[in-house]
Amino acid sequence: METIQSQVDELISQMTPAEKAGQLTQYFYFRLPPGAEPGLDFDAEQQPRMVESAVGEGGAGSLLFVTDPAEINRLQRLALEGNRLGIPLLFGFDVIHGLRTILPVPIAMAASWDPQTIERGQSVAAREARAVGIHWTFAPMVDIARDPRWGRIVEGAGEDPYLGAAVAVAQVRGFQGGELGSPESVIAGPKHFAGYGGALGGRDYDEVNLSDSELWNVYFPPFKAAVDAGAGNVMTAYMGLNGIPAGGNRWLFTEVLRELWGFKGFVVSDANVVRSLVTHGFAADLTDAAARAVNAGVDMEMAVSDAAYAHLPEALESGAASPEAVDASVRRVLEAKIRMGLFDAPYVDEDRAREVLADPAHRDVARIAAERSAVLLRNEDDLLPLDASSVSSIAVIGPLADSKRDTIGPWVFDFDLDETVTVLEGIRAKAGDGVRVDHARGIRVVQREFPSMFDMFGRNRPSDPDGFDEEAEFQQAVDLARGSDVAVVVVGEWQNMIGEAASRSSLELPGRQLELLQAVVETGTPVVLLVMNGRPLDLRWAAAHVPAILDIWYPGTHGGAAVANLLFGEVAPGGKLPFSWPRTVGQVPMVYAHARSHEPENQGRRYWDEASTPLFPFGYGLSYGRFEYANLSVDQPATTSGGTVTVSVEVTNAGDREADEVVQLYLGQRYGSALRPVRELKGFQRISLSPGESRTLEFRVGPNERRYWNAAVRDWVSDPSTFDVWVGGDSTAELATSFEVTQE
Ligand code: NOJ
Repeated sequence: METIQSQVDELISQMTPAEKAGQLTQYFYFRLPPGAEPGLDFDAEQQPRMVESAVGEGGAGSLLFVTDPAEINRLQRLALEGNRLGIPLLFGFDVIHGLRTILPVPIAMAASWDPQTIERGQSVAAREARAVGIHWTFAPMVDIARDPRWGRIVEGAGEDPYLGAAVAVAQVRGFQGGELGSPESVIAGPKHFAGYGGALGGRDYDEVNLSDSELWNVYFPPFKAAVDAGAGNVMTAYMGLNGIPAGGNRWLFTEVLRELWGFKGFVVSDANVVRSLVTHGFAADLTDAAARAVNAGVDMEMAVSDAAYAHLPEALESGAASPEAVDASVRRVLEAKIRMGLFDAPYVDEDRAREVLADPAHRDVARIAAERSAVLLRNEDDLLPLDASSVSSIAVIGPLADSKRDTIGPWVFDFDLDETVTVLEGIRAKAGDGVRVDHARGIRVVQREFPSMFDMFGRNRPSDPDGFDEEAEFQQAVDLARGSDVAVVVVGEWQNMIGEAASRSSLELPGRQLELLQAVVETGTPVVLLVMNGRPLDLRWAAAHVPAILDIWYPGTHGGAAVANLLFGEVAPGGKLPFSWPRTVGQVPMVYAHARSHEPENQGRRYWDEASTPLFPFGYGLSYGRFEYANLSVDQPATTSGGTVTVSVEVTNAGDREADEVVQLYLGQRYGSALRPVRELKGFQRISLSPGESRTLEFRVGPNERRYWNAAVRDWVSDPSTFDVWVGGDSTAELATSFEVTQE
């Protein structure tokens, strides 16, 4: 520590204001495929030249979007040669769910309810990223998402702060290893602080207005957990939170993040957030924007071009920017570079990068993660698993069934499609020679109605084979299903329909997918429906008519192999929903942890034209086992506000297959000094049980599980009350007990 401090002091004492501003500026460096249209506000030819000249003059401290190790070395050399103080560049990138080996999308990983799988997955992502020379990932996204119209729900862990915090911690550990600077690790940057998921109407980037109680009890906890786990970076949100844009929000970045939570890392703005303080109508010009952001505690500006922080010298000169704030920011950035070992080893070994990216062990981690993420939503008459000995023909239907690009999902750039296993390929490989596996696309791919911001990277828009005749294909798909023992229909959203700037006003299956599904079901052939998605879709018809439904999300590089293992029962699905699955978009937002209303007995009848319960509840997911819960007890009937009780429950697999269950504990406070949700998740454990096996699990429920932010006193409180405890396999668990908490 001492030596880091003195190294930083030494550097800062020699730096000019322009050099300081340079260290605080991060530029995009895009190398787009030929003919690409950037769609963002920059010139694709000019931009790399501008960035290279900034790098060569000490005008940039960090770059993002470079993933080729040779390029990273070239740019690093440029920086070191042009920089009289020898300060290396920090390379950041969106390693969201894998670099070369693509893991299931983050919402899927959360659906595993398995911190170990999540940690292992992100450590593979970190290993690959670090091998190519990336030092820092803009992940995890820990924004709570309660509105599935918001496309970025796919990047997070869903609606619940407790699950969200557990997933955030696992990801930070996976990315960073034991501590910041561990070998084969990268800096984790939880984002987007704060409240981004609450966008009005689910419209990406729109304003967010959250009550005090929602902010502290729901939206902050995953960030706090990520900070406590040692995250080295935090990224700002784009939008205004309760009227103050994140990029100029001193309360968020200085008072909450640093002073209250003790965050020691550095803060980066989201792309062009500092410039957009002007766009928002908050700052007068770029100099004012730079001053406000740095004074608020935003250490580094991420910019496409024309960085506002290039105006920091003027802002210092005029006194608008605080010199202490600027120095503190430079200090944090330099510290991160020192901790990551960049001064000692600025370059990357290109041969080793190739080896690491090819490591077959990484693909196994991705496949296992996909197996553990899938959620079985329906399984009438145990249609699944398929019995390979009694099935001789399988019809695999739908364009998504054999789409490599869609299998790996959004927010990936360095993927290898050749090694991606689609559902069709996975089933073919698994079914073996005796089983006929045929594919019919059935319908055209559905195009987004306006271009996606990711189109500029290429390979983002789906397309049909040449000469595709939809009517003939539709008929062929139906005929194929009719003539097969089982039909596996894959529906969902094409991956470019979800993610950043991909909000939707509807949750319907795009295009003619429902019509195709209905026609296939009508043939009478048993149907297994696979859903490829990152948000809940309107499955009302399917949930009433299709015997088996498995949510496979965007399952990643070896997703198809994982799906085949699940379909044939090599492994049992054990994932659970990380959000309440609404019946229709009109119910949105819908969360299980709502407040108790004035008329609780009618809670299920709030709309006159639709039930006000979800289609599938939060925490829900079936399995090939059958789990029974018994003997729920609390070790003591009462405790004081500082005390902890131990809840135990016996879980038995009464089915005839080994399977996983996620045992969930929910807590509800009956009365107190504020309205509390009807119940809240406060513990979970994913376990594996053999047929007939029973296990007794324990959960500790202490002050941390009971305290909450009370908007009346603007502080954390712990009320004496009666607490109900439910334990079961989803958020509707009925097995209950209770205990009392008395004043200390
Ligand atoms: C904008 C996104 O909001 C953010 O999540 C991402 O990390 C940056 N762009 C960089 O790609």
